[in-house]
Amino acid sequence: MSHRVWSCLSLWLVVMLIIRARAEFYSSVDTMQELAQLELELLNATRSYLMAQQQQTNLFRRFLEQLKQEHDMAMDLIDLDEYLGHPLHAFRLIKRLVYDWDALHTPLVENKPREDYRQVVDNLSKEVGFPDLSELQGAVKGVLRLQTVYNFTAANLADGIINGFFYDSEMNWRECYEIGVQLFDLGEHQRSLEWLQVAFNLLRTSPEMGEEGKSQFIADIKEYVALANFELENPKLAVRLLEKVLQTEPTHPARHTRIYMEHRDLAETRQQKQEPSWFANYTRLCQGRRFPEKGNGIPLRCFLDGNRHAYFTLAPLQVEQVHLDPDINVYHGILSLDQIDSIFEEADKLEMTRSGVAGTGGTRTVVDLRVSQQTWLDYESPIMKSIARLVAFISGFDIAGAESMQVANYGVGGQYEPHPDYFEVNLPTDYKGDRISTSMFYLSDVEQGGYTVFTKLNVFLPPIKGALVMWHNLHRSLEVDPRTYHAGCPVIIGSKRIGNIWMHSGYQEFRRPCNLTSDSFKSVAYRE
Ligand SMILES: *[C@@H]1O[C@H](CO)[C@@H](O)[C@H](O)[C@H]1NC(C)=O
Ligand SMILES: *[C@@H]1O[C@H](CO)[C@@H](O)[C@H](O)[C@H]1NC(C)=O
Ligand SMILES: *[C@@H]1O[C@H](CO)[C@@H](O)[C@H](O)[C@H]1NC(C)=O
Ligand SMILES: *[C@@H]1O[C@H](CO)[C@@H](O)[C@H](O)[C@H]1NC(C)=O
Ligand SMILES: *[C@@H]1O[C@H](CO)[C@@H](O)[C@H](O)[C@H]1NC(C)=O
Repeated sequence: MSHRVWSCLSLWLVVMLIIRARAEFYSSVDTMQELAQLELELLNATRSYLMAQQQQTNLFRRFLEQLKQEHDMAMDLIDLDEYLGHPLHAFRLIKRLVYDWDALHTPLVENKPREDYRQVVDNLSKEVGFPDLSELQGAVKGVLRLQTVYNFTAANLADGIINGFFYDSEMNWRECYEIGVQLFDLGEHQRSLEWLQVAFNLLRTSPEMGEEGKSQFIADIKEYVALANFELENPKLAVRLLEKVLQTEPTHPARHTRIYMEHRDLAETRQQKQEPSWFANYTRLCQGRRFPEKGNGIPLRCFLDGNRHAYFTLAPLQVEQVHLDPDINVYHGILSLDQIDSIFEEADKLEMTRSGVAGTGGTRTVVDLRVSQQTWLDYESPIMKSIARLVAFISGFDIAGAESMQVANYGVGGQYEPHPDYFEVNLPTDYKGDRISTSMFYLSDVEQGGYTVFTKLNVFLPPIKGALVMWHNLHRSLEVDPRTYHAGCPVIIGSKRIGNIWMHSGYQEFRRPCNLTSDSFKSVAYRE
């Protein structure tokens, strides 16, 4: 199946890439660009291979014609003996067999264009590396994640409708079928059915082939539909579907599937999938829907603040309160487009290394790899110095306690599940104290998706390029504040770039005096 898999992957990825490239001036996910480049080089290499092959074939054909002419001329003579009796004719025949045929034979067997082509492909696979099946599954998981979090139907996605907007990215039946098959292999049987159904509808109405040709593929789809129903514990329906397949296509491999079903014990692999407790809040907020507030307490405000620091006297901070306790504020228009470009330039200089989110057991998974990439910038350059100054002035904290700025890039499907920014245990030894505050700069707009959500606080924030979000991760008593659990929602379309600066508490004795009376009771109810 790998050739089909490959064609589906490339198409889907390219489609997503095109959509993204249009939406962003700055590069989106770097690995995707490598893949697009890889495909371009493959196209080039294949085109030159075919052209060289054709030229060589033409050359050989002419050469062959010439040899044949000489041969025919000899054979046409009435008396071959007489012809060959002529010493020059004998010489010619032998010369043809010694030199001429060899001149044809050697390049024909060596096939230089083919060797060149193989070289290019070898080089590409060494230098860039071809994506494998696990990468394809990663891409399909990305689609699945979007469907799960945003409640997108397969039918809409296949029609190129994403979150109510039409994109020029319709999919054909084969691609939908391939996604269905991959989802089946991932154990996502319900979603698999959804995609297979779409594939079936598309194939039935496809003008691309005759009824005869369709019948085989329709049988393939139905076989998977039967299998998915079987796994979803509808064995009767599954058997009925298989029988229908075998009625129309008696030699279809589905007859083995029936035997397989008879011997498969579903109880063996059945496992209840349970959503984590944060899931409902997370998806709701990611979709931009909040619970209505219970109209008590102090209303949230937007205001200009010129008093926080002398620096802001002439250009007051544009503050938007999004939560009061714990305090979450958005500062608008903090970075200019030029400043953001300078940050990217600096980040580009340091190769974007893939983000090291360890999976369970410390192993990195493909999904982790494709979900985000990150790099760290210190405060040496003029632009980074001015950013450090801004954060110090706004937060009131001493920048000595700041980690380098982490610049992260999330591609399509890129997300970060709810997590706190504090460590609580296993504090890093290079800093004093835990992460007292987070300053998150939005370095890009995101066309769709990619909100920052606080799952316990009913807060969602769409990324706005140039804005800064700031909050405290610790109570005044320096105990951790679990209310600050937050998450990055999957990017639907676009590329999300953020810059994070985490401030440590050990340097802030005079900036945010800690309170000996513990205020951590506020978050007791929010402990997991
Ligand atoms: C592809 O081929 C064209 C000419 O056919 C060449 O100009 C271009 O640089 C090639 N691109 C790559 C990536 O090899
Ligand atoms: C393949 O790589 C080798 C070594 O890196 C290089 O010498 C050669 O020119 C490359 N060939 C092609 C066709 O790119
Ligand atoms: C998902 O969408 C379907 C309709 O497409 C709707 O019936 C359902 O309630 C939605 N579910 C959620 C959790 O939003
Ligand atoms: C979900 O949100 C509500 C309202 O914001 C909050 O009270 C509740 O604790 C949250 N649930 C979880 C599991 O985070
Ligand atoms: C210390 O915390 C207590 C309890 O939350 C509060 O009443 C008090 O005002 C705080 N003191 C300072 C200096 O913030």
